[in-house]
Amino acid sequence: MPGPGAFLFGKEEADAAMEVLQKGYLFRYGSEDDPSFLHKVYSLEKEFADYCGSEYALATTSGTASLLVSLKALGLKPGDEIVVPAYTFVASYSSCIFAGLVPVLAEIDDSLTIDPEDIERRITPLTKAIMPVHMLGNPCKMDEIMKIAKKHNLFILEDSCQALGATYKGKKVGTIGNIGAFSLNIFKTINSGDGGLVVTNDKQLYEKAFGFHDQGHKPLRTGVEVGDRDTIGLNFRMSELTAAVALAQLRKADVIISILREKRKKFKTLIASIDGIKFRTLNDPDGDCATLCTVIFDSAEKALKVCKALGTKTVNHSGWHVYSNMEHILHHFKQIGRPHAKGAYPKTDDLLSRAVNISVGVVDGGLGAGWGINILSSDKEIENAADQFIQAFKNE
Ligand SMILES: Cc1ncc(COP(=O)(O)O)c(C=O)c1O
Repeated sequence: MPGPGAFLFGKEEADAAMEVLQKGYLFRYGSEDDPSFLHKVYSLEKEFADYCGSEYALATTSGTASLLVSLKALGLKPGDEIVVPAYTFVASYSSCIFAGLVPVLAEIDDSLTIDPEDIERRITPLTKAIMPVHMLGNPCKMDEIMKIAKKHNLFILEDSCQALGATYKGKKVGTIGNIGAFSLNIFKTINSGDGGLVVTNDKQLYEKAFGFHDQGHKPLRTGVEVGDRDTIGLNFRMSELTAAVALAQLRKADVIISILREKRKKFKTLIASIDGIKFRTLNDPDGDCATLCTVIFDSAEKALKVCKALGTKTVNHSGWHVYSNMEHILHHFKQIGRPHAKGAYPKTDDLLSRAVNISVGVVDGGLGAGWGINILSSDKEIENAADQFIQAFKNE
């Protein structure tokens, strides 16, 4: 089941993809003089930088690639520690592990994003960075996190993969710390099947990120420079076809987010009077993407019963977004002598056992959001879903 952008696929995406195919030129680099070169990747980078209000944007093959490229750009070294929340997608950890880093997990708070107080407790002389993850479209408490980073001289990589278009105090997420990573996979606000983006205001970081994403080359090359490369890179280049679709989707991002906000507001109002639930805290209520409506029950038992009645799951039973469900990552921690048993993050465990993600725009069983509404739901369907939720709560 997809994210909201996929529900709105239409003529714009089809025409853009067809245009590239008809010209027959799918590589991101080309000559301005060549009429078959449509520079979709360049245009996506330019429009995304403008959209975010950042100096630079770089297109990549995925959110995971964007995270890895960002970590490498920051110059983090094997053995360095990075503080990451205990509730996030597996790629937040695996990208660090592939960069040779040690992810150090921190508790989340009732916003289901990283708890700044716990970040401080996890800092050691080896800590070099923090990765706040704007989980489920909710911007992290960036003021507090930036203060901690400044105090301890740490880099900030914002994992914004679930929060494209979200803002914190008027600034787009991804642009507040040193560098930000986005995903364009099918579950995200906008999508091109797969794909990713990196944003930064720092020229040096952009150049490093660019080099790492393309065999060490300098940005926007037209040929191959010999004797002038200082970065060893890999290949995470986006193709013109992906960029054509991503660009058409990007132009719909604001409309998507405003529809979702409206639909969630309606759903929330209808269930707000239930005694025994609260909504998760939104760190910036005006900036949240509204891709989900997350409810926190007073008790785990009640949450489980309501989920059973609705045919969904509490967040702790959802897929690979909870540290304790990631057996391969837990195995890695054991191998490096830093075991994280189930129950190692009691605050996170407690919150997630009582939390239920109701879909609004992102319909994703892997997030525990297999039940709810979607971007195309009518008022009547929203009312029916709210009734169903209220009945499930009353009957249990
Ligand atoms: C928080 C977070 N980080 C990183 C990623 C990785 O993105 P991708 O699937 O595009 O590699 C995702 C994707 O689900 C995510 O939700």
